[in-house]
Amino acid sequence: MCGIVGYIGNKNIKNILINGLKNLEYRGYDSSGIAILNNKIEIFKTEGKIKNLETIIQDEQIKGSLGIGHTRWATHGIPNSKNSHPHISNDGKIAVVHNGIIENYMEIKEQLINEGYNFISDTDTEVLVHLYHYFYNGNMFDTFYKMLNRIRGSFAICLVCEDYKDEFIVARKDSPLIIGLGNNENFVASDMPAILEHTKNYYLLDDMEVAIIKKDSVEIFDENKNLIKKDIFKADFDLETSEKAGYKHFMLKEIFEQPICIKRCIQNSIKDDDIFFENFSMDNNQIKNINTIHIVACGSAWHAGMVGKFVIEDMCRIPVNLDIASEFRYRNPILNKNDICIIISQSGETADTLAALRLVKQKGVRVISIVNVVGSSVARESDDVLYTLAGIEIAVATTKGYSTQVVMLYMLALKFAHIRKNVTKEQFENNLNKLKTLHTYIEDTFLLEHTLKNIAKKYHNIKNTFFIGRGIDYSISLESALKLKEISYIHSESYPAGELKHGSIALIEEGTVVFAILTQDNLIEKTISNIKEVKSRGAIVIVLAQEKYSKINIPADEIIYIKDFDDKFITSVAIVPMQLLSYYIAENLKCDIDKPRNLAKSVTVE
Ligand code: G6P
Repeated sequence: MCGIVGYIGNKNIKNILINGLKNLEYRGYDSSGIAILNNKIEIFKTEGKIKNLETIIQDEQIKGSLGIGHTRWATHGIPNSKNSHPHISNDGKIAVVHNGIIENYMEIKEQLINEGYNFISDTDTEVLVHLYHYFYNGNMFDTFYKMLNRIRGSFAICLVCEDYKDEFIVARKDSPLIIGLGNNENFVASDMPAILEHTKNYYLLDDMEVAIIKKDSVEIFDENKNLIKKDIFKADFDLETSEKAGYKHFMLKEIFEQPICIKRCIQNSIKDDDIFFENFSMDNNQIKNINTIHIVACGSAWHAGMVGKFVIEDMCRIPVNLDIASEFRYRNPILNKNDICIIISQSGETADTLAALRLVKQKGVRVISIVNVVGSSVARESDDVLYTLAGIEIAVATTKGYSTQVVMLYMLALKFAHIRKNVTKEQFENNLNKLKTLHTYIEDTFLLEHTLKNIAKKYHNIKNTFFIGRGIDYSISLESALKLKEISYIHSESYPAGELKHGSIALIEEGTVVFAILTQDNLIEKTISNIKEVKSRGAIVIVLAQEKYSKINIPADEIIYIKDFDDKFITSVAIVPMQLLSYYIAENLKCDIDKPRNLAKSVTVE
């Protein structure tokens, strides 16, 4: 969370920083600011989205060839102009932007207050600028290291100092930071979309690396101040993919991109009628010897993991533990020699997920990651990487990111089942052929647009809702409920359908809307009984079901039918109408769909 951009060069600095921040707004958007070093440091910052910052600087004649900017997702201190970055030293000669959390900021702050420093904000970040000032001995490089050695926590930091008009200094630990390489100009950013229009060549900073950025050079140092050489990473995606292409919102565009993304993801993993992953080096013996699989992730990626658990256990008969990364990392998990861990992350930068990965690696257990962002920290630190190839996802609420994760898990499950001989050759081919057609079933769900819009119009004013399902349908319910609450702010909870009666059914009253997911042959009768239980307490029930159940009497007020598909893989079809329904409900409520309140796409703090 929080987005950073920095520039040194001869182009229009205001435009570069503002456009960069706009492209990073998915990382946080409660306040923003820029600092430009011309002769002196000039700072402009304000509360709210980048457009507010743009408004306050539109008439300013901003000149300079060095600047840093920041879009904030508040952790310490409420979102207001005072707490927004950049933070500046008391003498106005040093400015800093930061992403992450300085965990020992309180003790440093106390010390600095005793030294006479005047703190303006409630943030942890402000200690950086005063601490740097406190250590400053005329040498930016040495002082920066002194500052880094004193702080604990996670950070991506950019610092400008008035005494150094032709360079700025950056560092990272557990928060992403990349350096974009141009021609007589250089950039830094939290993520590539911020500067993709200017360059496709990057250095990806690793933890505890420091870089000095000048117009015509970038020098990178390790934590012991040794100059190091890094490979240049070339981005292979275009800016067009991060534009709305006529859709009202990125979320809608990304929902409609799902068939193509899923098709690409599957086809890219098939070679000579077998499943082949590019950045994957586990051999057949290792696969045959897997004892337990641990799937670890956050948010929707965790929901994708739940689908993975069902499919892997069902197809491969390997026990799968599913964990939320923020829990897993602090509970001393039992990891054995022949276990493997699947880490799932769209961004590849989620702080808890990354920490879980490192814990697993430390225990000597192999990590396969399922990641969208190429070159991200999770991807770089894993033993094997399955890229989901969904392209840049901009909307904060994930759709295509989630869907491609689910598909990668199908492919992995099928590959393992094949190698471990849990499926015959014929069953393997049969499943693979089904997956090759999956995208067409998703395309068909788009025909439901009209029905979904009508349901959204009718029910968008609800205040509370429940989503129920059993087995895989429970995982679909979880993701559906999350989508709805994220973008419409309607309180939505998901329960395994059989669990509702153990307490939560007390909340069902006349008119409560309950969504029920019915896609599993072996569970349909059980879930229908649960639907009856809520119906008889006055609930309005909206069902999503496979078409084959249309002959069954389902006691519902509305039924959304999707085309029949294999029960194991049906999540990928069923989730799409639920995403669209959430979208249309939020649209009726005039919500800020791509940037919902309080959320950020890439959660780089714990
Ligand atoms: C945030 C996003 C979610 C995402 C979760 C995990 O909360 O808003 O959409 O599922 O982080 O993100 P990751 O990048 O690790 O998949």
